[in-house]
Amino acid sequence: MSTATSSPVAASAAGQPCYADTAAFTSARIVTHNQIADNTWRLRLDCPAIAAAAIPGQFAMVRIPHRSDPLLARPLAVYDTFFEATDGQGGGSPHRYADFIYAVHGRFTTALREIPVGQELIVWGPLGNGFQIPAVDHLVLVAGGIGQTALLGLGREQLGRTAYGPASRLRPTPSTRVTCCWGARHAGLFGGIEDYRAAGIEVHQATLDGSAGLRGTVVDLLDSLFGPAAPTSPPAVDTPATRSLHVACCGPDPMMAAVARWSAARQIACDVSLEAPMACGIGICFTCVARVRDGSGGWDYRRTCIEGPVFDASRIEW
Ligand SMILES: Cc1cc2nc3c(=O)[nH]c(=O)nc-3n(C[C@H](O)[C@H](O)[C@H](O)COP(=O)(O)OP(=O)(O)OC[C@H]3O[C@@H](n4cnc5c(N)ncnc54)[C@H](O)[C@@H]3O)c2cc1C
Ligand code: FES
Repeated sequence: MSTATSSPVAASAAGQPCYADTAAFTSARIVTHNQIADNTWRLRLDCPAIAAAAIPGQFAMVRIPHRSDPLLARPLAVYDTFFEATDGQGGGSPHRYADFIYAVHGRFTTALREIPVGQELIVWGPLGNGFQIPAVDHLVLVAGGIGQTALLGLGREQLGRTAYGPASRLRPTPSTRVTCCWGARHAGLFGGIEDYRAAGIEVHQATLDGSAGLRGTVVDLLDSLFGPAAPTSPPAVDTPATRSLHVACCGPDPMMAAVARWSAARQIACDVSLEAPMACGIGICFTCVARVRDGSGGWDYRRTCIEGPVFDASRIEW
């Protein structure tokens, strides 16, 4: 990790790129802070180094300074980044802001909700691998609960609307179509849905109580849009249509496991962004481990902060 003035200090995991090496550790002023849905808040931070470097699927660790409760930072996905001219006339050196969306959940998010515009938070990032989507015609984003925060930038970038990260980064091959299938408990929880629509992403909703979209789970929604799997096992579906589809998913573990099974049954590649609890975000504490298959029939614990949070869903031992 580096501050604006120091060199990287975090050690890489053996043989693995360590995203923590290039992360910035910074104090970031809150620029805007608004409630956007039931229990859901959007936070804009003035953190130019993080905003300039972040790619879709990466996250930052956010901590409230001068407090011991909660003592630890929490991971939040970088939802979007913005550029703004500083001279008021479209010129000057641009400011870059990073947006985060959070659901009020426990001690950290309850405390964060009360922090006003103008105050500063401690932030380190961007962290994690982010999404690496191969060239694909149709990308299907599958969000559960607050999991949409990891997916907006990915959809935008796959449609060729926005380029994230450093200018030197190899851009992904655009998709012709991006669909978002978003499941929530009820209609009041779809915070940020207008951003998806404005980006040209086709949005479909499912709610458990039927208050918006299809009544049911996001897997019911996928079934209604793409049809049931072929009844044979292993599936006979290996058509140009399924080969040109790719699923990117973020949400609660049981939902991601179900989406992974849904995709596997149709031989559709699926990446999941795991929401493991994290304490350090940079590979030191092992709080964030997930069971990841190693290719020889076994599995091992992997730190999702430095080897993830995005994994090929077929490698996760749910
Ligand atoms: C890479 C990554 C990106 C994330 N991005 C976002 C985001 O953009 N917006 C957002 O709102 N949240 C996000 N999260 C989840 C967020 O970091 C946790 O929910 C965080 O713990 C909330 O802090 P808290 O103190 O409010 O709740 P806590 O007090 O930490 O937790 C309250 C309850 O939730 C449980 N819990 C905590 N974390 C998790 C988890 N990850 N999965 C399941 N149960 C959990 C605890 O066991 C406890 O029962 C992300 C997590 C990861 C790993
Ligand atoms: S959060 Fe500490 S090792 Fe991953």
